[in-house]
Amino acid sequence: MYVLDDNGVKAECVVTDEGDGVLEIKNIAVVPECHGLGYGRALLDFVARTCKGRYSVLQVGTGDSPLTIPFYEKCGFVRSHRIEHFFTDHYDHPIIECGVRLVDMIVLRKEL
Ligand SMILES: CC(C)(COP(=O)(O)OP(=O)(O)OC[C@H]1O[C@@H](n2cnc3c(N)ncnc32)[C@H](O)[C@@H]1OP(=O)(O)O)[C@@H](O)C(=O)NCCC(=O)NCCS
Repeated sequence: MYVLDDNGVKAECVVTDEGDGVLEIKNIAVVPECHGLGYGRALLDFVARTCKGRYSVLQVGTGDSPLTIPFYEKCGFVRSHRIEHFFTDHYDHPIIECGVRLVDMIVLRKEL
């Protein structure tokens, strides 16, 4: 788990080793009052710099949502594949973002 501290905790994420040189970002979150200030990008860049050379790919899975996909794309991730029905199969309640129910998980990847 990585925590970004800038006069107090501003962001965190968990990074898991998925095997075959692939690392996965889980549960990245920035303190709500601090969205849009660059903390999310700084945390992803830090993880990429820290793990470069030991791993080949950084990946993340997210819903097909305008709240998250553009953020990852701005940070250099590209869409890799989709896991169909992930959110409907694994959660016991609907997850709605921007008025749309999340169904598939979109996996994005960035070469390290
Ligand atoms: C998604 C999240 C981590 C982004 O962190 P952030 O600190 O707000 O993002 P940054 O300020 O580092 O943004 C980096 C770039 O992405 C862009 N961006 C961020 N969110 C965006 C959005 N919803 N739509 C379009 N662009 C977005 C920023 O404008 C910035 O681009 P720029 O450098 O060209 O200006 C943050 O919004 C968050 O914690 N959300 C709630 C939890 C969550 O959804 N986590 C993701 C789970 S998959």
